[in-house]
Amino acid sequence: MTKLSRYATFSWGVLLYTIFVILWGAFVRATHSGAGCGSHWPLCNGEVIPQAPQIETIIEFTHRLSSGLALPMVLVMAVWAYRAFPKGHPVRGGAMASLFLMVTEAIIGAGLVLFELVAYNSSVARAYWMIAHLSNTFLLLAALTLTAWWASGGPAVRLKGQGRLGALLGGGVLCLMLLGASGAIAALGDTLFPATSLAEGLQQDFAPTAHLFLRLRLFHPAIAVGTALYLVIVAALASAGRPTGPTRSLAQVLVGLILLQMSAGLLNVALLAPVWLQIVHLLLADLLWMVLILLTASTLSHTPVQAQDPFEGQPLPVLGLVKE
Ligand code: HEM
Repeated sequence: MTKLSRYATFSWGVLLYTIFVILWGAFVRATHSGAGCGSHWPLCNGEVIPQAPQIETIIEFTHRLSSGLALPMVLVMAVWAYRAFPKGHPVRGGAMASLFLMVTEAIIGAGLVLFELVAYNSSVARAYWMIAHLSNTFLLLAALTLTAWWASGGPAVRLKGQGRLGALLGGGVLCLMLLGASGAIAALGDTLFPATSLAEGLQQDFAPTAHLFLRLRLFHPAIAVGTALYLVIVAALASAGRPTGPTRSLAQVLVGLILLQMSAGLLNVALLAPVWLQIVHLLLADLLWMVLILLTASTLSHTPVQAQDPFEGQPLPVLGLVKE
């Protein structure tokens, strides 16, 4: 294995750190701590450093501090990319996209607090913001993952001439994004309307007066089954269509993660989504997303395997020319 450059090591580190920040953000939601700093932003309850904080304040403040540190890290990554890589290198584009998406992530996070779409708020507006937050998080993870991959020597993506496999992979990316968004609604339903037993949970979901989030939460497992089957087929096609080392390994890891995540989802329902399992489920969702992005990038960096040209290296029968 070749040694990673300092830039590549740094960019994988930024990715790892961002995953920690995302998981801590889910912990804030799951523990109803989003209003731990009141509706103040960037101050916490009107103070730079909260005095005599409650546990919710500590959880929310830690999220603000850790996410606040992620922004300068990505800024360093972007500036460094321009110094270390030549014009047109994909690392530059990936790092700039990461910076942009980190800023929009912070804006969405600030919006959640300023518009008080936190803690026990059950408005439909909160659902839209959560979907926007989840989608932005996925796009940010995609940009960071690709930056680190390209900085580690991963080949650039070529969209032209990729045929049906390219479209199928693009469809997979969109499906997983939609699945993630439906998961964000399910998570909101579980946080706002916790059930004390599986039977009570199901009764809640099917009651004629059920809240919109509870009715929508039923769709998540159904979307998961459809997406999982689709992704397994696409992974098999990618592995067969571009049988290179990384593509094959990534396809295998993707299928393994899908199996693991489906089991975690079932366990989530059975155990009534305890906080620790919500965090594990989100971690698996993020890993699955990153592996799908890498599988897509790895597959689309190669052109389809061509049928062997029978005249390669032979004199062309009519003109007597040698075909290269
Ligand atoms: C590939 C499959 C799956 C993916 C990618 C996925 C993704 C997600 C995501 C991103 C969330 C939101 C997490 C958060 O914001 O904290 C979520 C929540 C949830 N998912 Fe899934 N999911 C999958 C399969 C399933 C399955 C099969 C079930 C149930 C049978 C399930 C049940 C739940 C439940 C109950 C929640 C709400 C509690 C929580 O946040 O963990 N998921 N899912």
